[in-house]
Amino acid sequence: MVTVGLQPTGRAWARLVAEGSGCRKCPIAGRASKHVFGRGSLSAKAMFVGYGPGLSEDVLGVPFVGPAGKCLDAAVKEAFRLHSRNPSVFFTNLLRCRPCDLLGGPNRDPVPDEIDNCWPLLTRTLEIVNPAVVFLLGQVTHYEFGERWLRSETTASPVAIVEVAHPASIVRRGGVEGAAFETYVRSIFEGLEVLYCG
Ligand code: URA
Repeated sequence: MVTVGLQPTGRAWARLVAEGSGCRKCPIAGRASKHVFGRGSLSAKAMFVGYGPGLSEDVLGVPFVGPAGKCLDAAVKEAFRLHSRNPSVFFTNLLRCRPCDLLGGPNRDPVPDEIDNCWPLLTRTLEIVNPAVVFLLGQVTHYEFGERWLRSETTASPVAIVEVAHPASIVRRGGVEGAAFETYVRSIFEGLEVLYCG
């Protein structure tokens, strides 16, 4: 079964969502329509971490459902297909709330305080899913995750943490029809090799 579209269920997950939904540590929580926690299988082997929800994600409460998400889904499905496997994936973000400065304003990058405030919810997500591979989407995620991961006390134990491009950058270069898509699939395929090769 393809797990790309699943909404998580389970007691630990429900507790995390209930507790996290009440979080008002950052001003962006007051502008958010919904806190956005995750999408996929709680027993996923691969987790994809982005910056934070965009407009579509804020409205629906589900990560990676806009154009970038559709491009990411297509790349992930293709990378697993090249390994002859069904996708075993979970999608989440550094932030649960949409980073923007005005109600309805444009998306912006998360700032360090917001990432610090949301870090416990991300590490709990990592502990619940405990993926073998974590894909960090884009440079901001790579840098900010890496900074905190080394100091973090968590029982999550991925065997690999891999940086790949953020899917929004692939959308800007033509998306699934563009020249960058194949390279993007390849980078995800290679990140999955720790699971399926050797
Ligand atoms: N971009 C992200 O980084 N995360 C999402 O959930 C959607 C777009």
